[in-house]
Amino acid sequence: MDKKLDLKSIRREYEGPRLLEEEAGSNPFELFQKWFEQALKEEIDPNAMTLATVDENHNPDARIMLLKEVNEKGFIFYTNYHSKKGKDLAQNPKATIVFFWHKMVRQVRIFGIVEKLSEQEAIEYFQQRPFESQVAAYLSKQSEIIENRDEVEKKFHQLLEEFKNKPVPKPESWGGYILIPLKFEFWQGRPARFHDRLLYIRESTSIEEWKRYRLYP
Ligand SMILES: Cc1cc2nc3c(=O)[nH]c(=O)nc-3n(C[C@H](O)[C@H](O)[C@H](O)COP(=O)(O)O)c2cc1C
Repeated sequence: MDKKLDLKSIRREYEGPRLLEEEAGSNPFELFQKWFEQALKEEIDPNAMTLATVDENHNPDARIMLLKEVNEKGFIFYTNYHSKKGKDLAQNPKATIVFFWHKMVRQVRIFGIVEKLSEQEAIEYFQQRPFESQVAAYLSKQSEIIENRDEVEKKFHQLLEEFKNKPVPKPESWGGYILIPLKFEFWQGRPARFHDRLLYIRESTSIEEWKRYRLYP
């Protein structure tokens, strides 16, 4: 690098509201929903999250994904099962997702067990995707090395023609996962770095029973 980046001078005060136990409640899904609804109004990509996985050599990896649904069981996202993350999850079905909502100065970390969605659920979501995204799913050997980008683009245009005016079937390698949470941490940025942090840990096999703790900033 020919020019040194001046990172040390980047500093701002976080002016978020307090995160208090009374308002947070006892169910982290409900608090997530409340925060998400606020993020929807404030943020550009409220459903963008970091998904962290661990591979067979215990090396961590992370990438941005889009959260596509939350239900009473967990957090749903879609991808290619043969991708790097798909391979990681096949041999270690544990993951963490992290949301960062800039304007509200909020972070949510959710750790859990990941399961594949059923073929039927994946098909239902695939059918709602725009035509070009459906076709693009056929091209993607996600995370593999491309020798020639022009070839891939040519193939894409061929496929667009082939599938024109026809329903596009879901490729076998494309599907969804649900992360079933065991732990949530809600972090609210506060002035003087005196942040509010609440940790929820699942008590039992019941998704409804959570223990709540306050953490030091
Ligand atoms: C804003 C944003 C949203 C993304 N959403 C998804 C997604 O929902 N599914 C997906 O497979 N990749 C998504 N990606 C691409 C991933 O970050 C990643 O590059 C890709 O899934 C390959 O990851 P892997 O090699 O770790 O498997 C998104 C990237 C960005 C920047």
